[in-house]
Parts: sequence; structure tokens; C-alpha cells
Amino acid sequence: MKITWLGHAAFLLESDKKVLIDPFITGNPLSPWKVEDIEADVIVVTHGHGDHLGDAVEIAKKNDAPIICIHELSRILARKNVEAVGMNIGGTAKVRDVKFTMTPAWHSADVEEDDTIISAGTPAGIIVEMDAKVYHTGDTDVFLDMQLIGELHKPDVMLTPIGDWYTMGIKGAVKALELVKPKVAIPMHYNTFPVIKQDPEEFKKAVEEKLDVRVVILKPGESFEYP
Ligand code: NI
Ligand code: MN
Repeated sequence: MKITWLGHAAFLLESDKKVLIDPFITGNPLSPWKVEDIEADVIVVTHGHGDHLGDAVEIAKKNDAPIICIHELSRILARKNVEAVGMNIGGTAKVRDVKFTMTPAWHSADVEEDDTIISAGTPAGIIVEMDAKVYHTGDTDVFLDMQLIGELHKPDVMLTPIGDWYTMGIKGAVKALELVKPKVAIPMHYNTFPVIKQDPEEFKKAVEEKLDVRVVILKPGESFEYP
């Protein structure tokens, strides 16, 4: 599987199918791409915040791609003339021949539209299974149930926030890897804005001193091939 980081929490996973997660492209100072350049078969949105929902609706329309998300957010997105596939925590859904398992995340998840804030269900993480299993935690703190996610789903690669302020920082992310035990971890949700500035090398050092997990630091636009 080819894993490309588009900056912030946005990733493109490519195997038989192209799965795009949290496509915050427009307004993302780290994004090396333009919305027009992106092709996807399926889109996942972990929660309704603007830095995750991003350009999902536009890309979904252009690619005729369904958006997978939590049920309440799917009801909101369905009004925008896109195919929104609602699911919920703990469930596995097969969409366009790709398996998606939704996991809990400790965060918040409202959507802002015009001047109103709309409740959009709970935030989530997602495990995408193609020729490898990738766990995108979504925005979250570390939580002890990550151990269950590791035991039940055995993800190969974990995409984890390290930015702090809105999510766990480096200390929490190291603990999260200890609980989930992936083979590879890729840090995300850092350096997009001043308040989430972090040194990914510090994270890599802390992990590799303590755990049998390989940390791969990507630059926005860079890819990693697993295995
Ligand atoms: Ni968020
Ligand atoms: Mn976020």
C-alpha cells in the first residue's frame, strides 16, 4: 500500500482503490496539492471540524466518490448532494470493496455552517483494510481502549496526531503506540499552525528508544510504501 501524507490529517491510501482521509486541502498551509489534482474512490471524514471535512464534498462530487463518516455527519452531508455513507463506532462497512472499521476518538465533532454550529455526532477514527491495515486515529487523546483496537484489529500502520493543543501531544502518542502496537507509525496533525508546532524527530526518538515500532516521518506530499 502506498501512503501519501497531504499535510495535517489528510492522507491518500492507494492499493486496488484510492482512499482519501480528511482532505483538508484548501486553506491548509502544508498541502502541496490542489483539490483538482486529487483522485479518490472513497473518502473518509473522521469528524466535522473544518480541518478534516475540508474539501471532501467537492472532491466527492468530482470523483463520484462516497463519503464515509459517522451517521449524524452523513445526514448533514447527504443534504449537499453527495453519497454519504453513515456508520458508527465498532462497525465495519465494506464500501467499493474496501473494509472500513470505525473506532472511538476522544475529541469533539460539531460542524460549522454559516453562522451556526450543528451537532454532528461523535468524532471517530478509522481502520482501512486493503492489502494492509491502516489505523487513522482521527483527532484524539490517548485512551486505554486503544489496547483493544490493537488486539482486535492488529493494524500494520498507525497514523497518529502529535501536535498537542487540540489532540494528544508526543507523550500521549508514544503511549498510544505502546497500546496499539503497530509495526509502523506516521505522525500527523502538527506544524500546520503555530499552536501545534512539534518536532517529529523528538517523537521518533522517544518511540524508537522504548518500542518496537518504526516511525516514518513524511513531508507533505511524500509517500511511504508498506511493507
Ligand atoms: Ni478536530
Ligand atoms: Mn483537527
